[in-house]
Amino acid sequence: MAAAAQRLVAAVVVLVACLALPAARGLNITAMLNGYPDYKMFNKYLSETKVCDEINARESITLLVLGDGPMSMLVLDADQSLAGIKNALRLHAILDYFDPKKIRGLPDADTMTDTLYQAGGDAAGKMGNVKISTLDTGKIAFASANPGGKYEATMVKAIKQMPYKLSIMEISAPIEFDGLFDTPSATNLTRLLEKAGCKRFASLITSTGVLKTFEDAMDKGLTLFAPNDDAFDAKGAPDVKKMPSADLVTLLKYHALPSYNPKPTLKTASSAVALRSVVLGALATAVCSFVLL
Ligand SMILES: *[C@@H]1O[C@H](CO)[C@@H](O)[C@H](O)[C@H]1NC(C)=O
Ligand SMILES: *[C@@H]1O[C@H](CO)[C@@H](O)[C@H](O)[C@H]1NC(C)=O
Repeated sequence: MAAAAQRLVAAVVVLVACLALPAARGLNITAMLNGYPDYKMFNKYLSETKVCDEINARESITLLVLGDGPMSMLVLDADQSLAGIKNALRLHAILDYFDPKKIRGLPDADTMTDTLYQAGGDAAGKMGNVKISTLDTGKIAFASANPGGKYEATMVKAIKQMPYKLSIMEISAPIEFDGLFDTPSATNLTRLLEKAGCKRFASLITSTGVLKTFEDAMDKGLTLFAPNDDAFDAKGAPDVKKMPSADLVTLLKYHALPSYNPKPTLKTASSAVALRSVVLGALATAVCSFVLL
């Protein structure tokens, strides 16, 4: 049973990966950066954290990339936590088009910009913004908008400019601030589920100990399809009270994908749920989806 379950989860993940839709405007930042071996590590993490999907979905973006040296520093600063690295990569994606000419012509000494990180709502105040300036030395520099953020990251070179859609510039050092790497491992999963109307699911994963499995998986990425409370009473739903506990554990685990599937791919992930419900009679009639990294 367990081996079959594992095979099925693997099949589901492959299915989701295959069905992933191409980005609306046709940008594939991963494919583009593949042409620049200097940013191999940066690109690898863009893929692993799925920040590439968020970038592809944007109309206008300035991506500040790092060579392997500064990128290794960032990974160490993040304690190698994928969730922490994700925060940082999102901070390096500015939601507007900037090329060197535009930056040199900016009227203000410090220009504040929005980033994917700021837009994600995880930042306290304006911490998720990045400021841009041209230094007295003539160098273009970037810093965290956090008070006291110093201009330590300077532009090394402009790599690709497609006005006003995409600009890629290499910078000399990662942009960081205290707290950037704090991650949702502090997220209280049961509270999150309860607030979303999935109390019964939350209580079952707590009583069976599956909660611990989910929490452990969160650092590497987890997508939960949590049945809401009504789904348990739906016609055809398995009676969880009568189920042997080993089967219940398997059933609960079927409601999670061991990977991070941000919203753009969730549409296709719902076919994964349908697939599973055929096999196990899963509680999938009404789900709240959670994406946790
Ligand atoms: C983007 O390109 C990469 C590498 O060529 C490929 O693996 C990936 O599937 C592409 N993504 C999309 C959304 O087309
Ligand atoms: C998480 O939230 C639940 C319910 O809201 C609560 O009972 C539990 O103590 C919380 N856990 C932690 C570790 O704070």
